[in-house]
Amino acid sequence: MNNPVSVVVNGAKRSIVVGQGITLLDVLRDQLDLTGAKYGCGEGQCGACTVLVEGKAVRSCLAAAESVAGKKVETVEGLEREGRLHPLQAAFLEKSAFQCGYCTPGFLMAAEALLRRVPKPAEAEIRRELNGNICRCGTYPRIVEAVRMAAGVGKR
Ligand code: FES
Ligand code: FES
Repeated sequence: MNNPVSVVVNGAKRSIVVGQGITLLDVLRDQLDLTGAKYGCGEGQCGACTVLVEGKAVRSCLAAAESVAGKKVETVEGLEREGRLHPLQAAFLEKSAFQCGYCTPGFLMAAEALLRRVPKPAEAEIRRELNGNICRCGTYPRIVEAVRMAAGVGKR
């Protein structure tokens, strides 16, 4: 049976329908029209669907919708503030850290989780943290540079 529950998405209280087989990714894309998080592998292997739940990076394709009841969810759509790009978004643009862009929302959210925890991460730490996110276009070096730039530890 499907049930409505409350969740806070990008700062706004929303009512979502949860039930057997409904994932957080389904909710975001199909119920809330937040299509930034992408459906890639659907098996927790690529990171394209990464969002934050209570500030931690979560693979939304694997998270049951009911698991976020009453919690705070953040998606790539919530990164900008009043029309201004988040520093990570600006750095990804500056460094051209994408080609097709399919992986980008997942990388941005995984990087955001890291920078909240470790504001000035070493390069090795960035690589380790983003290791589970896949970019089929092979833009990894530019992604790492962009995260370093956003953290204020890389070259402009
Ligand atoms: S779509 Fe969720 S990890 Fe690949
Ligand atoms: S930019 Fe195409 S998958 Fe990463």
